Amino acid sequence: MYAWLEIMEKMKMKNVVLIGFMGVGKGSVAREVIKNSEYMTIDTDDLIESMENRKIKNIFATEGESYFRGLEKSVASWLEESVKNTLISTGGGFYKQKNLKKIGTIVLLDSPFDEIIKRIKAHPNAAKKLKKRPLLNDLKEAKKLYDARRPEYLKLADIVLDVTDKSAHLCAKELLKKVKKNA
Ligand code: S3P
Repeated sequence: MYAWLEIMEKMKMKNVVLIGFMGVGKGSVAREVIKNSEYMTIDTDDLIESMENRKIKNIFATEGESYFRGLEKSVASWLEESVKNTLISTGGGFYKQKNLKKIGTIVLLDSPFDEIIKRIKAHPNAAKKLKKRPLLNDLKEAKKLYDARRPEYLKLADIVLDVTDKSAHLCAKELLKKVKKNA
């Protein structure tokens, strides 16, 4: 539907890596992009939950954040070594991995903090979405984290996509247009 193969071939089978703050819609956009295509998307949080056979919330609660960041590092090495031609959506802190740029083209899904929270709260599963993210439990702290991270996200991004008030479908369309232009 979105000519993903054509774009990937142009990019010499490099991956596309979605970064951005928690709840901005990385997973939804990734799923929309690959819809009706034979291509694949993977999510770093899902990989970690499979590796550990437990939820991220539990990993944070029992082992702490630095243990989780270590798992992200293992995932980052594996992605660089072994994954090609894939749309990778990442957890909001994954951008800190030193080899990020080696994994693929970096696309930042960008939106103001209040809009992200509005988006999560409008979701039918809002309570669950907030609860599963330990770093979103305290919104004041989360805003501080957002303010600290946003300039870093912008610095790393090859492509910035403003997702505010856009459907996943529209974001997917715009993403592919920008990736194609950048390839
Ligand atoms: C985190 C974001 C989460 C998850 C973990 C830590 C972060 O992923 O990786 O709770 O540091 O921003 P999402 O961005 O998918 O919520």
